[in-house]
Amino acid sequence: MGQPTHALTQTDWWRTAVIYQVYVRSFADGDGDGTGDLAGVRARLPYLAELGVDALWFTPWYLSPLKDGGYDVADYRAIDPAFGTLAEAEKLIAEARSYGIRTIVDIVPNHVSDQHPWFRAALNGGPEHELFHFRPGRGAHGELPPNDWRSQFGGPAWTRLPDGDWYLHLFAPEQPDLNWSHPAVRQEHEDILRFWFERSVAGVRIDSAALLVKDSRLPDFVEGRDPHPYVDRDELHDIYRSWRRIADEYDGIFVGEVWLPDTERFARYLRPDELHTAFNFSFLSCPWDADRLRTSIDETLAEHAPVGAPATWVLCNHDVTRTVTRYGREDTAFDFATKAFGTPTDLALGTRRARAAALLSLALPGAVYVYQGEELGLPEADIPRESIEDPMHFRSGGTDPGRDGCRVPLPWVADAPHAGFGGDPWLPQPADWPSYAADRQAQDPASMLTLYRHAIRIRPVFGDSPLTWLPAPDGVLAFTRADGVMCLVNLADTPADLPPHTELLLGSGPLDDQGRLPKDTAVWLRS
Ligand code: GLC
Repeated sequence: MGQPTHALTQTDWWRTAVIYQVYVRSFADGDGDGTGDLAGVRARLPYLAELGVDALWFTPWYLSPLKDGGYDVADYRAIDPAFGTLAEAEKLIAEARSYGIRTIVDIVPNHVSDQHPWFRAALNGGPEHELFHFRPGRGAHGELPPNDWRSQFGGPAWTRLPDGDWYLHLFAPEQPDLNWSHPAVRQEHEDILRFWFERSVAGVRIDSAALLVKDSRLPDFVEGRDPHPYVDRDELHDIYRSWRRIADEYDGIFVGEVWLPDTERFARYLRPDELHTAFNFSFLSCPWDADRLRTSIDETLAEHAPVGAPATWVLCNHDVTRTVTRYGREDTAFDFATKAFGTPTDLALGTRRARAAALLSLALPGAVYVYQGEELGLPEADIPRESIEDPMHFRSGGTDPGRDGCRVPLPWVADAPHAGFGGDPWLPQPADWPSYAADRQAQDPASMLTLYRHAIRIRPVFGDSPLTWLPAPDGVLAFTRADGVMCLVNLADTPADLPPHTELLLGSGPLDDQGRLPKDTAVWLRS
């Protein structure tokens, strides 16, 4: 158990991997202080091995004031003491490996914490000043920001210092952007990559990968003008080519966080000498609709094919609304712009669809990401306003609920305090959290956890062969992969007849009494 089950060569593991995202702070609390930690992850490695995942992606675990959940890094070579120590991270990497599970770390190159030694030195007048974007303001007294760029979290992307100058931050003010045209910034990140590859990590997730490089003139943003002053600039590719050369020395892989609507521009990051993979945000944002899903799948496969990169399939992560909640809403798409408090949802419906979506994603060619708690079918939690920590909420002026609702500490044991998470959780758990506990679901053949375990175990039957669509009624997605293995998902209002088959390998729910596939249900069949 726990050994990789597919028969691919070691170096190709990432092409078909199931990768589990660990948000350390909320995964499991080993020391009882209410914050998840590395000890908690180590204690749960048998659970992850039993789930059958090939790799763990850890969101940033470095020293951080946690103004943006760890995406504000003060030292890339130290583990935050709330999580553990570097020695413990090394142990965790080795222990995970002994279960056949690889480790992916998260590098945040666009910005650092305002507590990072470089930024502190810059504020003290050191030469580190050149490593950031400081500018005088506009207006008669410099009282206006240097340009009109907006922070991704809302509000201006500039903050003024007591000395009158402004500095750029595409995210929170506690996350000053680095100046990527300075060679020391490049050198430092190459060293950080080596630092982690030397510690046997198998891969690196690159945060905000398309934002690093800015037009050095820092011009105002003009809608529709190419190139964009800070998104997807051509200079990025040179950076990632140099990173790739480093990764190749260690057989390491990259997964980029590249949110770009233009599929051709997106695919450029996946050329053979750049990043190995990137997250599929088109699939993640796609509504529960057969035509839209099919288009998203076709476009994904078409954009990856020319560069030879495998697709990734992602339903949720630590930034977006949890899948069962989203799929139970009237509008089942995900969009940051439309997030609101109190959007009604039907969780039974959402859960049925999420189960079907799990079988769909796990049957598609490429790698699949599972965000912690997705395998438990956790819904998005309503966080009381006074407990919200996410800067996205505050910088929206309090209208955006923020991302804490998908970051609630996990329920492990139904009958234990705090659902077995550990100490009193840093974010409150909803009252019904124990009903989702992993120990209870492990005993229940109809649970989401059992479905994920079975699906991940059976998934190698699809091999790495391409997808072929099969004829199917309107609203039904049907395709075959390896010889005779089929996946069918019914999104139509009426039950669908199954094609001739010899074996039903797995279903997301029962067939109806006439052996048909009900609405919002998926099956894997052998012909
Ligand atoms: C990425 C992360 C997100 C973070 C942001 C700034 O989008 O996924 O959580 O807030 O980058 O680092």
